[in-house]
Amino acid sequence: MPRLPLAREAILTRGIRCPNDRRNKPCASPATRDRSVVDFMKLGDLYTRAIETGVAHDPRGKDAVAKELERTRKEFDALSPGDREFFDPETLKNPYPDSRILHGSLDHDVESILVGIDIDVAEILLAHTLRSSGTRIDAILSHHPSGRALADLFSVMKMQSDILNLYGVPINIAEDLMDARIKEIERKLMPINHARAVDAARLLDIPFICLHTPADNMVATYLQRLFDREKPYTLADVVDVLRAIPEYKAAGLNGAGPKIMLGAKTRKAGKVFVDMTGGTEGAREIFESLTAGGVSTIVAMHLSEEHRKEAEKHHLNVVIAGHISSDNLGLNLLLDEVLREQPVEIRECSGFRRFRRNEKRA
Ligand SMILES: [Fe+2]
Ligand SMILES: [Fe+2]
Repeated sequence: MPRLPLAREAILTRGIRCPNDRRNKPCASPATRDRSVVDFMKLGDLYTRAIETGVAHDPRGKDAVAKELERTRKEFDALSPGDREFFDPETLKNPYPDSRILHGSLDHDVESILVGIDIDVAEILLAHTLRSSGTRIDAILSHHPSGRALADLFSVMKMQSDILNLYGVPINIAEDLMDARIKEIERKLMPINHARAVDAARLLDIPFICLHTPADNMVATYLQRLFDREKPYTLADVVDVLRAIPEYKAAGLNGAGPKIMLGAKTRKAGKVFVDMTGGTEGAREIFESLTAGGVSTIVAMHLSEEHRKEAEKHHLNVVIAGHISSDNLGLNLLLDEVLREQPVEIRECSGFRRFRRNEKRA
């Protein structure tokens, strides 16, 4: 699929047609649209659709997500008035605490978005500079979380227990090992100054949103279904399946393509588990249970040295698909769904490259 330096998203409007087109076709480009008659996507719609799409592609399944939301509601109901003041009410409807509107109003029109894998103060200043020079940017979208969404990143890791359970790890073992790891990540997040980028967006008044787990759900589910269908015979076949995907091909051409970290090209792939969602790396002690559950090969975005050693100890094959390339794939799949039929332009920054799969809308 061709990569466009500035990808123009679907150009249909919500029932409002281009007044200059006698065939009653949608307006062709943002430049030729009459802004007074076009009903643009709102920031709140973008956010809500992204969360709904993330739930629809959650590896745990929609019912499991609904049960977790119900559990959160019960926890909220049991809180004292004093504790309720500090409870984030968004968690009652959004199961992903690492995905939030960080600055901006729900009814803000979104016609052009600056999208990046990591958005920090530098990218916010970049957006401000582009705006100052006449480039339209209505909002900034980051994949990796910032602000409150970063502070709460550890909370989303609970979902990993349910996913591991689907791959043969008893839920008691998965929860026990993950609980310790979640507390470790919480401690690591505590000293971080997570407000920097959000403060910059607030001072420059640029709407700012981050979508983390919904995008990671997209890539995890997409790749798991692909491997389940293709059934790669060897690890070389696993790499070939990945290389056929535009995001991984582009990464490969840029020196960051898929690599076999543990195992060898001729090793049999066996049962493949795509480990790509749920906040960040889980508990390394889980590899023993995954092997016992029948998993032979893990496909991951990245793996720390400590995790690699533990996986090696339990004879697991590990293929590293690539971090930024996998995040690109997840975000692209999410945007394909969320921006369907919406007149929104994407501007790429911070490692993001837009590849669209719904070519018929081009
Ligand atoms: Fe990610
Ligand atoms: Fe990431």
